[in-house]
Amino acid sequence: MHTFQPCPIDVFEENPFTLLSHDWGVLTAGNHEKANSMTISWGGFGVLWNKNVCYIFVRDTRYTKEFIDSYGTFSLTFFQKDFNRSILMYLGSVSGAREDKMKMTHLHINYADDIPFIDEGNLVITCKALSAVRITPESLIDPKIEAEHYKDGNLHTMYVGEILQVLAR
Ligand SMILES: Cc1cc2nc3c(=O)[nH]c(=O)nc-3n(C[C@H](O)[C@H](O)[C@H](O)COP(=O)(O)O)c2cc1C
Repeated sequence: MHTFQPCPIDVFEENPFTLLSHDWGVLTAGNHEKANSMTISWGGFGVLWNKNVCYIFVRDTRYTKEFIDSYGTFSLTFFQKDFNRSILMYLGSVSGAREDKMKMTHLHINYADDIPFIDEGNLVITCKALSAVRITPESLIDPKIEAEHYKDGNLHTMYVGEILQVLAR
């Protein structure tokens, strides 16, 4: 397993837009017996309820969602620029309900205070879920969003996660 150092939040200098929408991250949740990971590119970072938080958006059908709901914690792992993108594509297109994604990718789960993350990453954010809000069609103000993103009824839940630790390799 690699060694990660805690990184104070005020030296976190990543651009949140490119970090998520271009580089992508891997959301992981679970416990020491079983964890699951999936690629994400929607979300954000900010301040809410006087806490540093992240926002992630997880559709109903994602197997990883069951792990967040069961354990109440999750992590986001980000990788070096030259990390093999086909691995992130795989984690973002195959469900852990059907395949052992860690075995297939030769990635490993590491833990920070019992919260699982991907050991091969270089930046890790561990979070405690504070709130889960399902984005229903009634909550959408712009009708185009439902037409573009939710025609199949596979809705997102927005999780607000309190950032517990930022870890850098
Ligand atoms: C680049 C990329 C970004 C993605 N972002 C999200 C996301 O933000 N939220 C989401 O619910 N699914 C997202 N997905 C889809 C999930 O990663 C995908 O459905 C995955 O297979 C779910 O795995 P699981 O069933 O093991 O949880 C994304 C996929 C890719 C390739």
